[in-house]
Amino acid sequence: MQPYPVIATRVDPRSEEYRANAEANRAAVGKLAAALQETTLGGGEKYVARHRAAGKLLPRERIELLLDRDSYFLELCALAGKDVPGHVPGAGLLGGIGRVAGVECLITASESTVKGGAISEMTAWKSGRLSDIAEHNRLPSISMIESAGADLPNQSKIFVPGGRGFRDLTRRSEAGIPTVCLVFGSSTAGGAYIPGMSDYVVMVEKQAQVYLAGPPLVKMATGEDTDHEELGGAEMHARVSGVSDYLARDERDAIRLGREIVAHLNWTSAAQRRPVEAPKYDPEELLGIASPDVKVPFDQREVIARIVDGSRFSEFKPLYGQTLVCGWAHLHGFPIGILANNGILFSESAQKGAQFIELCNQRDIPLLFLQNITGFMVGRKYEQEGIIKHGAKLINAVSNSTVPAITVMTGASYGAGNYAMCGRAYAPRFLFTWPNHRIAVMGGKQLAGVLDIIQREAAAKRGETVDEQKLAFGKAMIEAQIDKESDPYFATARLWDDGIIDPRDTRTVVAIALSAACSSPVRGTTSWGVFRH
Ligand code: COA
Repeated sequence: MQPYPVIATRVDPRSEEYRANAEANRAAVGKLAAALQETTLGGGEKYVARHRAAGKLLPRERIELLLDRDSYFLELCALAGKDVPGHVPGAGLLGGIGRVAGVECLITASESTVKGGAISEMTAWKSGRLSDIAEHNRLPSISMIESAGADLPNQSKIFVPGGRGFRDLTRRSEAGIPTVCLVFGSSTAGGAYIPGMSDYVVMVEKQAQVYLAGPPLVKMATGEDTDHEELGGAEMHARVSGVSDYLARDERDAIRLGREIVAHLNWTSAAQRRPVEAPKYDPEELLGIASPDVKVPFDQREVIARIVDGSRFSEFKPLYGQTLVCGWAHLHGFPIGILANNGILFSESAQKGAQFIELCNQRDIPLLFLQNITGFMVGRKYEQEGIIKHGAKLINAVSNSTVPAITVMTGASYGAGNYAMCGRAYAPRFLFTWPNHRIAVMGGKQLAGVLDIIQREAAAKRGETVDEQKLAFGKAMIEAQIDKESDPYFATARLWDDGIIDPRDTRTVVAIALSAACSSPVRGTTSWGVFRH
């Protein structure tokens, strides 16, 4: 138990505000559950039935059998591709973190019921993100492959981004991060280079077929008559070509071999945890804290109180720069430094945040950013006191910090506030969002209002009068567009985050992310860009 004070809550579960928030957030969580359920349907009934009739396991079943019996599985980027034209929810690839033979691994599985597991543009982007997670957190990876290679009709969109996957595999191998590939079915061209570039390869007898080109293409290219087995069968690769290291009797045997390989990787986690203490306050209450309207503020200490061990929090500089709450806590026994927005960023709060990040780097403590930020303060007074240079200090510290950072968007995520609070472009190890969050350069109304002023000024310069009706129509259109693009589902479908989570799961999700991030030693830095004073 840490000798930090327990946060005193002001949340009243009987209040009108709490009830209204809880009702709206429960509905949002229900919508999330339905969206996640949709990703489990794969390519739909017809393709799932065909897959089963061929005696094959579905990708989620493969993952389940691979995992240790008591392991969690933190699925990542589950809604990538959702409602993006031409893509399926999940983007044709499953990925997440779980334990295999006691080792935390990044596990991926081709969604083989969608276009034979073909790689679309969105599959390539998601695969790239998952690959980054394996590389940055030094996690061994297990790829469970059954892939028809490039999504052929869309080859122009996939050709360039698709190439990165093979490079990533060999670069991880160079960095000593193990890569294991289990091949369950037909894996052609791009699908063939995944085993080709992996450190360890297992193929399933009479089921895995791995070749650069299948028999029809070979016939077309060279006139040679071949069959699938002699061209790329698992037995041929295990006995003749050497592309496979192990020949599995069936899918379960391949999974057993995968677990056996991980067991002899000689891989140990550096993560060290203190004894775990449950929060004093019920995480269920997280639903009553954040309003569905991001303009309504809430105290992030109430969130911290429901996610950290014992609800204990040692606050740093509590009287200075109060719109950025900073302090130390433990979460599932992991030490963390938390930065949480309690309003707009001012010069003082930005400077406090930069100093706090320096301290956490000195002490090798990972960072947790809780974003609820509409941006930096604007206006004459603030420009004159140097809000740009003070904001730049925070951005400098966030950019050059080397301890792992995890970001959770609990409300607004607008403008440079998104950047300063370790948004996606600042490479947090993991980034999750709550279903109530909104993300954009600025709100739809504000953005439409700014454009309106610019257009009026431009017309005045030209000596023209504006067409009020046209301007009002344009304003309404842009406002609706920005509102749509600020939606959490729009963001997660485009991989701006690693997943929307139920707020009540925040502690568990961050704990798994911390466990992965701390599996290699946490090393802070004392080297920064120039701080403008
Ligand atoms: N790109 C886009 N769609 C593909 C695809 C690809 N690479 N491979 C398969 N599909 C589609 C099929 O057209 C089919 O669509 P439909 O049901 O709307 O007709 C669906 O995925 C299922 O494929 P199907 O061939 O019916 O399944 P299968 O289990 O009998 O065979 C494969 C699977 C992968 C062996 C076979 O589809 C195949 O050989 N694909 C081409 C592989 C290839 O040459 N890739 C080169 C990439 S550079």
